[in-house]
Amino acid sequence: MIRLGDFRRVVFFTGAGLSAESGIPTYRGSGGIWEKYDYEEYACQRAFDRDPEKVWDFHDERRRFVAARDPNEGHRIIAATPGATVVTQNIDGLHQRAGSKGVLELHGSLWRVRCARCRTVAENLEAPIRSRRCGCGSHLRPDIVWFEDMLDPATVRAAGDAIARCDLLVSVGTSGVVYPAADLPRLALSRGAVAVEINPEETPLSPLHTHCLRGGASEALRTLLPPAALP
Ligand code: OAD
Repeated sequence: MIRLGDFRRVVFFTGAGLSAESGIPTYRGSGGIWEKYDYEEYACQRAFDRDPEKVWDFHDERRRFVAARDPNEGHRIIAATPGATVVTQNIDGLHQRAGSKGVLELHGSLWRVRCARCRTVAENLEAPIRSRRCGCGSHLRPDIVWFEDMLDPATVRAAGDAIARCDLLVSVGTSGVVYPAADLPRLALSRGAVAVEINPEETPLSPLHTHCLRGGASEALRTLLPPAALP
């Protein structure tokens, strides 16, 4: 029986399946975002250079949609795990809204913008955003790691360090097909950590885990709590 409280250095590695229970569609599979929208039109630098307003319309709609949704029990269990590190591929900010601190956002954030000209990066929680332009006149762009973008090296390093040092890795709701993020769980296994995958389906990452819990995120995370913590 795996219990979160039996480990000193816990890392949660999360993906879109965790936020699915908040009503936010995942990216892949039926009803997934990339089934409805072509990333080449909405989620790459080339699309933004071609038509920034169209790309912003898509992201403003996502801002509105996500702002109207709340963190779920899975986010709250993660936030309540003392000393845990959260490494997420999610850009929705729901970990932070549930109370997690120091979240390592591998794919950036829907709630930050940056300016390519003056190199500023700023938090912006407006939904929709009031101005799509920086003070310097240039278009702001969402600070999201789009297709073909590089991940922030410092964030990847911090995530890798935390996973290499952890004694328990819990991967929640990721298809494990997007690299380099999908390489990270391997570090835990190679250092002998206990690694739990939570996903209703088998994934390419399943063999990198010592335990697989097949089910929804909140329900499976609840089984990792001490019995006294259950309502
Ligand atoms: P995916 O959409 O690729 O995968 C979602 C995973 O969640 C699948 O394996 C589902 O089986 C699982 N799932 C669905 N419902 C679940 C539930 N209730 N509980 C637990 N798991 C559930 O999402 P990611 O792996 O996060 O990039 O995708 C990785 C990256 O691809 C994303 O960060 C995104 C996308 O392009 C950016 O936004 C930059």
